[in-house]
Parts: sequence; C-alpha cells; structure tokens
Amino acid sequence: MTERGVNIKVQNLTHRYSARGPITFENVQLASNSGEVLAIIGRSGCGKSTLLHILAGLLRPTSGTVHLDDTLVVEPSPRWVMMFQAPHLFPWMLVSQNVGIGLRFARWGKQKIHKRVSETLQLVDLEDYTDSNVQDLSGGQQQRVALARSLVMEPELLMLDEPFSALDAFTRSALQHDVRSISKRLGINLVIVTHNIDEAVIMADRAVIMAGSPGKIVHEMPINLEDPRDSQDPKMQEMRTKLMEAFREATHAPNYESNSG
Ligand SMILES: Nc1ncnc2c1ncn2[C@@H]1O[C@H](COP(=O)(O)OP(=O)(O)O)[C@@H](O)[C@H]1O
Ligand SMILES: [Mg+2]
Repeated sequence: MTERGVNIKVQNLTHRYSARGPITFENVQLASNSGEVLAIIGRSGCGKSTLLHILAGLLRPTSGTVHLDDTLVVEPSPRWVMMFQAPHLFPWMLVSQNVGIGLRFARWGKQKIHKRVSETLQLVDLEDYTDSNVQDLSGGQQQRVALARSLVMEPELLMLDEPFSALDAFTRSALQHDVRSISKRLGINLVIVTHNIDEAVIMADRAVIMAGSPGKIVHEMPINLEDPRDSQDPKMQEMRTKLMEAFREATHAPNYESNSG
C-alpha cells in the first residue's frame, strides 16, 4: 500500500438542520494537509458530529463547501470513510466477510478479495481471527474489524466520531496508538472527533477546539510530539495541560467573536 493522503479544505461552512431552527455552526474554515491527523475537540452539542457528517458527504451543509484535493464533497465515497462509536458489523458473517463486503460490492474477484482482506487484517492485528464469528470477538476486536472494513477500500481520509469511547481504558489506549501508527504508515489523513483531551494528545498532529452556539472553531494547537507517543512522557503531560487550558479558556469565554462584528 502506498502513500495516499489528501488536502482537506473547508470553506465558510454553515449548517442549520431546519430553516427556523438554530444555526448549528457558522463560517467554519478548516484546512488539513495530506497525511495529517487532525482532532476536533469540543463539548457535547457544539456540532462536531454534524461537521464530520458533512465532511463525509453524509449530510449537505446549508452553505459552504468541502474539498478533498480538487473534489467537491457532495456524497459518500470509498475515498473518504467514517467510523462510528458502534462497529455496526453483520453478526451472521465471519470477520473476513465483514471486512471484504465493500470489495464484493465493487465486484472484485474472490482471490483479490482474499489477498486484500488478509493484508488488511494483518494491519489491524487480527490475522488470527479471519474465520471467527464477529459475535465471539471483544468490543475492541469488533472495532478493529470495523477499522479493517474501512481501510480495505484504501481510503485517503478516515473520519472517526468518538470511536473508542465505549471501550475500556486499556483497549482504548491500544487502539489510539495503533490507529495513529497505521494512518502514518499508510500516509492517509485522519479527522478524529472527540471530547477527550488525552485522546487528542495521543493521536493528533493538531487539535482544533470547537465551541459556542452557533459553533465556531475558536482555537487551534499543533501537537508536535515524537512517535511512538508515550503517555508518561513529560512533554506529553505538558501538551495535555496546555490543551486543557486552551479548552477551558475557549469554552468558558462568554462572548468570543459572535457579537463582535
Ligand atoms: N438530525 C438532527 N436534527 C436536528 N438537530 C440536530 C440533529 N442532529 C444534531 N442536532 C443538533 O445539532 C447540534 C449539534 O449536534 P452534534 O453535531 O451531534 O454535536 P456534537 O457531536 O458536538 O455533540 C445539537 O444541538 C443537536 O441537538
Ligand atoms: Mg457527536
């Protein structure tokens, strides 16, 4: 598998779910370079999932645009895929069948599917579970199957909406490290929505903070830490504190921007 990230450009994105309803967010500008891991953090209800659904082409914005390189995003595509908190697997299918389903729909031949599925299961450390029933797997393993099912299509951008929040702390930590390292190995972009500061610091190259009503991007911060990232590293603790302070400041400020002009 080769390098295959994408330049993301979000311009003037505004969304409201209904004409008379509240504005979810307005004038969101966001850019991300090829291969970057971007975390979007913010309190519940500030519009993170809405923004991610628009990036994934699952929802049309009220106004504004999303470009991935030169492509205007208006619908879902195997080039940009989303992972959710629940793995949404087909329980009657084996692990390999769950992972290969997109390739089957794309009418790949049996042998090609087998090869790609094996490579992908290896990537997520599930090669020993190829022929397992998904119900026999743990929550973390099921989330790895969902990850493999996304990666098998060789996306350029993987979006994750609080994907590990249902998992126990150890499983979550292993997945956070593995997903970052897999994305770096493949050179793909990640956009991770989270309300967890630690998750952002472990996984991301840069964090943006969303806050307010309507929501806005109120702060951004590069997270320049070496790989592999170690939670005990003092630089990481420092970064965590810095991001936490920025978050507090950003989310407690009463009136930032919205009334200023
Ligand atoms: N399908 C929908 N219809 C109407 N309002 C919605 C819908 N989905 C979310 N909202 C509202 O939009 C706002 C942002 O929601 P969401 O994007 O889910 O925030 P977050 O992911 O940051 O918690 C919330 O006020 C929520 O109630
Ligand atoms: Mg959400």
